[in-house]
Amino acid sequence: MRSLSGIQPTGEVHLGNYFGAIRQHVRIEGIYFVADYHSMTSVRSAELRRALVDDLVLDYLACGFDTASSILYRQSDLPETAELAWMLSTVTPMGLLQRATSYKEKVAAGIPADHGLFAYPVLQAADILQFNPDIVPVGQDQKQHVEMTRDIATKFNQTYGREVFQLPEPRIHEDVAVVPGVDGRKMSKSYGNTLRMFWPEKRLRKAVMAIVTDSTPVEEPKDTTQTVFQLWSLFASEAEREEMFARAAAGGLGYGDVKKDLFARLMDHFGPMRARREELAARPGTVADVLRDGAARARALAAPIWAAAREAAGVGSASQP
Ligand code: ADP
Ligand code: TRP
Repeated sequence: MRSLSGIQPTGEVHLGNYFGAIRQHVRIEGIYFVADYHSMTSVRSAELRRALVDDLVLDYLACGFDTASSILYRQSDLPETAELAWMLSTVTPMGLLQRATSYKEKVAAGIPADHGLFAYPVLQAADILQFNPDIVPVGQDQKQHVEMTRDIATKFNQTYGREVFQLPEPRIHEDVAVVPGVDGRKMSKSYGNTLRMFWPEKRLRKAVMAIVTDSTPVEEPKDTTQTVFQLWSLFASEAEREEMFARAAAGGLGYGDVKKDLFARLMDHFGPMRARREELAARPGTVADVLRDGAARARALAAPIWAAAREAAGVGSASQP
């Protein structure tokens, strides 16, 4: 079973990204890529983009991504993806793109509505279809894009009368709850409410201690749906959680103590990854080596599918009979 997914280099990776995406990418063997073409719809600095790509690759490696069994590549190292996106765009109905909720949301949030932002799902379809994967592990917010990919694949196959593309299944991480940020809203770089597991210890401790709580006095029972308990639960066993929630219900538990324990658990959980990241970052050429190897392996897998798409559409020179 082939798995394929991507993540945009658009900001510092945080706990939400880790539990919502990276951890799954590390666990499910497959093809993963850094979507730097996609990031062009929001990041407008070349230097920043390169730095974000490097950081993201180091984060993946530190989180245990195994480059022996899985592939990690940079989207723009396979420029043929952009050609395929063009071919797919010629069979993509405008109405399909107009229904994309993520486009509507981004425009509503004030992101300028350029053609790239509108055509974003077609490029995503090309990312996916060029590998004919069985599954695409993504968060709930990306489900519609995978469904659009299926529609676009069907349209291409029907138009040219060949089964060039296989229909991928979205694999939604149902078990992953939305990770809340320090202010209680969804953790997101656009809200500035993130916790980054690779921040220096002091900065991380300060951010944890600043998690917003209600003003229930120490001796009174605590509401365990609060952010601090949700974040703490990410690092606790079922039994530990039951015990902590019983203490919260009994009263006498201070939020400060829960925060201190959360910080200790964060350091414990990410300690080995933090050390590994430092090691990798200090070794020159780590990122370049991984991306070079990843691109070569990804290219070998995509090449026959690019060729089949060109052949079906009658672009480029015809292959010899
Ligand atoms: P951000 O919201 O910070 O801009 P992205 O939209 O770039 O993050 O998300 C990258 C990946 O991380 C996506 O697969 C998304 O589903 C996942 N993700 C982002 N934030 C969270 C969160 N708070 N909880 C769970 N998963 C998240
Ligand atoms: N749009 C995805 C996101 O914002 C990133 C992405 C780009 C992707 N191409 C993809 C995810 C292909 C899965 C498959 O999170």
